[in-house]
Amino acid sequence: MPDPADFPLGAKITIAELASDVHPVLHRLRAVEPVSWLPALNAWLVTRHDLATAVMRDAQTYTVDHPGFSTAQVVGPSMLSLDGEEHLRQRRPFDAPFRRAAVHNRFRQPVVQHIAQLLAELAPKGEAELRREFAGPVAVKTMMTALGLEGVVETAVLGWYDTIVNAVTQVTAGEPVSEEGRAAFAALRETLLPSLQREPEANLLAAASGASQGLSDEAIVSNAAVLLFGGIETTEGMIANALYFLLTNREWLQRVREDSTLLPAVIEETLRLEPAAGVVDRYATQDTRLGNANIAAGDLVRVSLSGANRDAAVFAEPDQFDPLRPNLREHVAFAQGPHVCLGLHLARLEAQLAVEQVLVRLPSVQLLGTEAAVRAAKPQGLVFRKPEALQVIW
Ligand code: HEM
Repeated sequence: MPDPADFPLGAKITIAELASDVHPVLHRLRAVEPVSWLPALNAWLVTRHDLATAVMRDAQTYTVDHPGFSTAQVVGPSMLSLDGEEHLRQRRPFDAPFRRAAVHNRFRQPVVQHIAQLLAELAPKGEAELRREFAGPVAVKTMMTALGLEGVVETAVLGWYDTIVNAVTQVTAGEPVSEEGRAAFAALRETLLPSLQREPEANLLAAASGASQGLSDEAIVSNAAVLLFGGIETTEGMIANALYFLLTNREWLQRVREDSTLLPAVIEETLRLEPAAGVVDRYATQDTRLGNANIAAGDLVRVSLSGANRDAAVFAEPDQFDPLRPNLREHVAFAQGPHVCLGLHLARLEAQLAVEQVLVRLPSVQLLGTEAAVRAAKPQGLVFRKPEALQVIW
């Protein structure tokens, strides 16, 4: 265990600070303790862009294959919980269906339809909470399409999702896998298995299964569960965060309305400023030195994507919203290295279509101006960062 006295700034930082207005804290850390020991997290926190990238690219020294990660105990081993050759083997079948062109081919039309239907229902109401009533449903419906679950009731999928997330949280806290957790994953597995048997055009899971090169149905289903988890909460946050930054920035709202080709850059800049997954975790496989820190084998190393994305050594005036910055794409919101987000093209497609259509179909949309609504709209959270609520009127 490192001596907290060696990292006086990190020693003082609380979970509450990290979960709320985290950016000033990350700036302070990056300046003096870019790899700091935070007793509140019982982990290292890496806030510099170069060091964050180095950790994520070095899966030999910093692994996800560790009992400290609980997802595998509930849904079985998957690409998320493995490294090296076995990671590649699990991820490979999904590579082709998740490439940009394949994603646009398969998903543009269904995603447009999901969005149109949701906005047609909201439009007459004149007000909405866009995170729960729009961003979340866009993400859920898209993942259900991806996994061939169109015929299944959405609330059933969300119920399994919540139960499995709770089971993972309990295992992380040292408890055994709950009966409910097992039952929920079994129900999800039974529902997913028929999707695998369809022709590859029918859904992404069938496409992966067709290219599985010996990966068992069981393994495909474990990875499908990971897709579901990877693709819902994060994408909900990504869409909500993008709407937040646009609705709080009149100049850019106007510019995007006049020229929708600016939208992809606007979305990238919102990913940089507030990545929906603010932290990724690794365990050190050996004693090693990173920046100013001596890390011991077995230590938890938390990489702050939020911190790396506002590193002034890479992004000039890092707290400014500037979609025209030349090196926009150097943000690490989707991570780096072997575990770089598999769903990034799909997530970008969803966010672009979602924001574009909100502006077209709710042309006078604006944030509700009350103090409470403005406060709730600001992205927050320790790992997943998004508005608590995005209350709007039009
Ligand atoms: C369609 C939506 C999405 C899907 C299907 C998806 C799927 C996945 C999967 C399967 C992985 C694990 C890859 C591996 O371990 O090899 C992953 C990793 C990751 N995803 Fe996504 N994702 C989606 C959206 C997002 C969004 C919107 C964000 C954030 C803005 C995000 C951030 C990440 C990050 C940071 C990782 C790396 C995790 C780590 O290295 O520990 N993803 N994603």
